[in-house]
Amino acid sequence: MLGDFIYSNPTKLYFGENSLDYLNDELKKYGKNILLVYGNGSIKKNGLYEKIISILKDNDKNIIEDSGVMPNPTVKKLYEGAKLAKENNIDLILAVGGGSVCDYSKAVSVSAWCDEDPWDKYYLKMEDVDNKIIPVGCILTMVGTGSEMNGGAVITNQEQKLKIGHIFGENVYPKFSILNPKLTYTLPKYQMVSGIYDIMNHITEQYFSNNDDNTSDYIAEGLMRSLINSSKVAINDPENYEARSNIMWIATWALNTLIAKGKSTDWMVHMIGQSIGAYTNATHGMTLSAISIEYYRYIYLYGLEKFKRFAVNVWNVQTEAKSDEEIALEGLNCMENWMKEIGLVMNITDLGVTEDMIDKIADGSFILDGGYKKLNKEDIITILKRSM
Ligand code: NZQ
Ligand code: ZN
Repeated sequence: MLGDFIYSNPTKLYFGENSLDYLNDELKKYGKNILLVYGNGSIKKNGLYEKIISILKDNDKNIIEDSGVMPNPTVKKLYEGAKLAKENNIDLILAVGGGSVCDYSKAVSVSAWCDEDPWDKYYLKMEDVDNKIIPVGCILTMVGTGSEMNGGAVITNQEQKLKIGHIFGENVYPKFSILNPKLTYTLPKYQMVSGIYDIMNHITEQYFSNNDDNTSDYIAEGLMRSLINSSKVAINDPENYEARSNIMWIATWALNTLIAKGKSTDWMVHMIGQSIGAYTNATHGMTLSAISIEYYRYIYLYGLEKFKRFAVNVWNVQTEAKSDEEIALEGLNCMENWMKEIGLVMNITDLGVTEDMIDKIADGSFILDGGYKKLNKEDIITILKRSM
């Protein structure tokens, strides 16, 4: 371990086929006014909406609905939600959906009672919350982001062409999250594999930094091996409970802050991916898959030891009679083959990126320095062009 740290995670998880049963117990802890937040209708199609409404009514709650949360939620929607939450004196925000619905709900929770413009305060100035925070509970239906057990809330400003994540503290984490793997069976394949790659990239973003002997890296390797195994099962057999439940649990652990403890982290794939998202509104996981291979091939020599370890420990690459570079590149080739096998988008052209956007996407990519190479704008342009 490198540094000192504090670890605490206040989100209570209910995991499994019957986990919705526990909503009753949780609802008793909060007041009457519930803001029920959901997306564009998937929960109505699969019957979850009716079940939740009935549990809320049994508990004698006032239900205020905030629907239509779009993938990559916008600041315009956030303003509407914050107003609705304040006007109705909401006691609990119940988020039913994927990362977008959970992130949005957290953003509403800190914005409803905020006197300033929340976009300026939380996203441009990155200030902490100093007003009342409405508690959030999640019922997760899409797996990938880890939003169910972290303080992340990513919001897109379409006018300013900026997609920014604020990582809030423990006081903003969901108070509880309900994780039933069966709720993910209705996800279209595109969303399922996008989520799988989001998980993979959350792990690699935290794995590819430092060269010390760090327990977090061993946990990361185990999570990646399990993900690769279960993803191959799930793409051929989407209703395989074993695989889907493993994937759901890996997603949570990939980004609930555990594997970042005691080390620095990279996050440059996400920074560039978010900027791509701001220009194209593409699905989050696909903005990562489309640039990852070119990014890692661009930086691997700066972190050769770790890339070699990745090849051997995650992809079982044989080392005999090979140079370190050959081993590291073989590991990346294995990752690329797996990505193609599960059906990810492998270039940014397919996401709608055109030549004229490249410079602006590079400008919108926040540069962090926790990875093996601190990129500059020219580096980002090169990676983007190679990813077209
Ligand atoms: O809106 P509905 O009709 O519900 O459809 C959604 C949406 O179109 C659909 N869906 C969800 N559950 C379903 C389902 N369709 C059928 N059956 C189900 N069970 O899936 C679509 C995508 O949902 P979304 O919530 O947008 O996906 P995801 O979970 O990938 O969330 C993406 C957002 O999370 C942010 C991303 O940037 C993006 O804005 N992230 C949040 C993070 C965090 N909080 O830490 C970290 C991530 O890196 C990420 O940046
Ligand atoms: Zn992500």
